[in-house]
Amino acid sequence: MTNASATPQIAAQNPHFHDPDWWRNAVVYQVYPRSFADADNNGTGDVQGIISKLPYLADLGVDALWVSPWYPSPLLDGGYDVADYRDISPRFGTLADADELLTTAHRLGLRVFIDLVPNHSSWDHPLFQAALAAAPGSPERELYYFRDGRGENGDLPPNNWGSMFGGPAWSRTTNPDGTPGQWYLHMFDVSQPDWNWDNPAVPALFDDVLRFWFDRGVDGFRIDVADAMAKDPALPDVTLSPFTGHGANDKHEGSPQWDYPGVEAIQRRWRAVAREYADSDLGERVFVAEAYLDPIQRLIEYVTPDRLHSTFNFDALLSEWSAESQRAVITKSLPAHGAVGAPTTWVLGNHDTIRVVTRFGKPETGTNFAQSVEGEGWEDPAERTIRMHPIPTDVELGLRRARAAALLELSLPGGAYVYQGEELGLPEVEDIPEDLLDDPTWERSGRRLRGRDGCRVPMPWSGQASPFGFGTDAQPWLPQPAAWADLTAEKQASDPGSTLSLYRAALALRRARPEFRTGELSWLDLGADVVAFQRGDALAVVVNFGSAPVSLPAGEVLLTSAPLVEGLLPLDATTWIAL
Ligand code: BGC
Repeated sequence: MTNASATPQIAAQNPHFHDPDWWRNAVVYQVYPRSFADADNNGTGDVQGIISKLPYLADLGVDALWVSPWYPSPLLDGGYDVADYRDISPRFGTLADADELLTTAHRLGLRVFIDLVPNHSSWDHPLFQAALAAAPGSPERELYYFRDGRGENGDLPPNNWGSMFGGPAWSRTTNPDGTPGQWYLHMFDVSQPDWNWDNPAVPALFDDVLRFWFDRGVDGFRIDVADAMAKDPALPDVTLSPFTGHGANDKHEGSPQWDYPGVEAIQRRWRAVAREYADSDLGERVFVAEAYLDPIQRLIEYVTPDRLHSTFNFDALLSEWSAESQRAVITKSLPAHGAVGAPTTWVLGNHDTIRVVTRFGKPETGTNFAQSVEGEGWEDPAERTIRMHPIPTDVELGLRRARAAALLELSLPGGAYVYQGEELGLPEVEDIPEDLLDDPTWERSGRRLRGRDGCRVPMPWSGQASPFGFGTDAQPWLPQPAAWADLTAEKQASDPGSTLSLYRAALALRRARPEFRTGELSWLDLGADVVAFQRGDALAVVVNFGSAPVSLPAGEVLLTSAPLVEGLLPLDATTWIAL
């Protein structure tokens, strides 16, 4: 099995690699495999492509990478529809490639998270295919949620639940004789049937999946929709969403679908599996939960002792770019996580959200997720989500703020996540032609929401024209804007003023200065429009959200996201100062 040993090389590159608490302050880089690097030049990224860029990630200075699903999958939800949890999609490579990735990453001092998708499988999963072929009430069907329909002929769904991607959360099967059969539940796409976690065979299956990858040397798992899985067995109707006409997915307390009490036992069971590895060379393995839950106390339950290690804190991602909002997120998050001994994490973007440059370049900066094709912005109060209409983005402003946000994020106590391309300042691609849109949201919303493809456009590595070194010459699976010639990693590497250089410098300082790991955060009062604090006694961080330039505490400027103007910090900029 793949295993990392304590080579001097690791110690040189990442002094915290063997620290059992490495994950508490780790900067984790998210790789979306389809769009990262295309070694076999077929238009889609692959595992060998990721391996080829590991030295880039080590030089960038991150501590770990998280690879979004790389499993066999029909890719009807970008790989979050898993047909086999113990293999690599032939599109992306082989298990031998995965082993090579783990060995190489560990040698370079990088830990590796992969994605666990436990709420649902793909409809191509052999166990779902077997369930479809089996009779109602059979053990095969008990692995998923199969139910008779309501109404005289069973032609109404078993309840009113709505899919997260639009439309109903139930689809009807067809019997072998061609007549309509039972319905199955899918909280996401029709191709993603929900596992029945009340059936003991399902938790057992996932224990094996965890051990399969931990034995190969995987350091941890990001848990997809960690607040799903358990459901009220009565499957009761929920409040209707006025927007979709189906049950709302508002995740309120007491919801029969989300954060249902059964998730606790599942999470404790996983923690016990991770602990089986405590004495291994790589130490106990680690989990990070993906769960959008409000208020924060509900999320914090997930990181109480013996449950998961960490969770994404999406509050910064969902907050507007203002001193008040950002300060509020910090003052809320740190004590809440601290109270249960868990690190806070900071997240600016991922493969599901509008890229930070674009989000902060819109007039309304707290908006997220969906770009509507309708003329007006609209809001679904039941789902707390403002859907953006295609109002123009001020990319220059957005980039300036994204750089400031990065220095804020990387200066805060706890861990941080960097979504691929954030370090290049990539904007969302908002004009992908409709016939190329791939996200199931597009069709399931009746072509009202464009979905998440705009943040998944393949990375620009080098050169003057698409594919920008993503592959050699194959057309990438989503088109890259010509303007990305100015944003390639190659171009930015040699420019000291580039966003890539800013990230490299920030990550090097973060590793070099102990305050970033251990310095207590204490607030500085530089006015209502300024977020300012110290980490320990010798380091200050100042972010200016106001229109007036700000005078800085005396000291040496270590790094700044925008040049100071006559010694003052201008609007939408962050600086780090050694006091
Ligand atoms: C993932 C999405 C995916 C969904 C269903 C999420 O939260 O991040 O990309 O579509 O789970 O698996």
